[in-house]
Amino acid sequence: AEIYLQGYGGTTPAFSTDLTRIEESAAAVLDPRAYGYVAGSAGSGSTAAANRAAFDRWRLVPRMLAGATERDLTTTVLGTTMPAPVLLAPVGAQSIVHDGAEAATARAAASTGLPMVLSTASSTSIEDVAAASGGGPLWFQLYWPSDSEVCLSLLARAEAAGYSVLVVTLDNWSLGWRPSDLDNGYLPFLNGAGTAVPFTDPVFLGGLDASPEEEPAMAVLRWISMITGTDRTWADLAFLRKHWEGPIVLKGIQHVDDARHAVAAGMDGIVVSNHGGRQVDGAVGALDVLPEIAAAVGDRIEVLFDSGVRTGADVIKALALGARAVLVGRPYVYGLAHAGEDGVRQVLRGLLADLDLTLGLSGNTTPGALTASVLRRS
Ligand code: FNR
Repeated sequence: AEIYLQGYGGTTPAFSTDLTRIEESAAAVLDPRAYGYVAGSAGSGSTAAANRAAFDRWRLVPRMLAGATERDLTTTVLGTTMPAPVLLAPVGAQSIVHDGAEAATARAAASTGLPMVLSTASSTSIEDVAAASGGGPLWFQLYWPSDSEVCLSLLARAEAAGYSVLVVTLDNWSLGWRPSDLDNGYLPFLNGAGTAVPFTDPVFLGGLDASPEEEPAMAVLRWISMITGTDRTWADLAFLRKHWEGPIVLKGIQHVDDARHAVAAGMDGIVVSNHGGRQVDGAVGALDVLPEIAAAVGDRIEVLFDSGVRTGADVIKALALGARAVLVGRPYVYGLAHAGEDGVRQVLRGLLADLDLTLGLSGNTTPGALTASVLRRS
């Protein structure tokens, strides 16, 4: 109603309310290399396409006279209460799309009450994002450094700054084959985007021969070598379990046996995700593996989902297929690119309104009650 009334008064949104289309307008406002980094995916882009195609195979079957004029989307996941089952996915290097970067995103997230998952590859420090958030819900995503002391320092900083859940990303131990960045010779951290998380870390800085101001490329390369190329095993997760008090979520799970490993390793949750199609070209659409994973472990562990969520209907489909909540990546980054904090807020509020309306108009009132019976496979 707000948007229609504003339109009646001659004011329309800064960019489209259709989140499947804002990639195009973001291309017009972004530096081409930054755009390529955000929009790009692995290889031929077939995984990113599969993510969207997987949503299209499921259709909602709306019910009428179902008493759905009043809805309650409030959801609690691992101790975090959110106004709707939606989180902001960890996205690194946000300074390449807007000067406000992660601080602008944090303010917008806090104003909606949705949790932000801060990336280890953030261009804003753990502490500055917490300050910008002003008490909003925050989770911390870990790219697991090979240096244990650096790892412990990051965990301690995140915990001290109030991040309540640790999200450990498993699918990015090496950067995927990404033609858009390869063709542009572009890696944000080597092209001026801040790497604030390590560069504000006393333990990381203590291990450098020269400061990042003196030798930025050396510092970046040391950091990249620390968070890539280390062979880990399921048993190694005990280290994180020992040193992180709160819940731990593993991000990047796509096989049902890996979901079972996560349970056996004492983890609290998983994100069924293929990194928005950015890692393995030709991988299965993330939504395609969600039902079997949720069926196998959903009663023992929180199952979250990301990769390809663009609409309220997409959120409903993921929840109906077993997710407790979803994470959204590129759409809010495009909002940030268009209009900074206000742009992120427009994307988040729009997605929540779309979700609320679509939930009600399809005859449903709460996310928790959604089951596959609201869907038909087509
Ligand atoms: C990401 N993603 C990501 N994931 C992570 O765990 N740590 C990170 O630093 C990043 N960085 C990152 C940068 C950019 C530009 C993108 C687009 C994505 C992956 C992200 O958390 C999430 O899994 C996907 O973005 C979800 O897919 P959609 O919503 O973008 O389709």
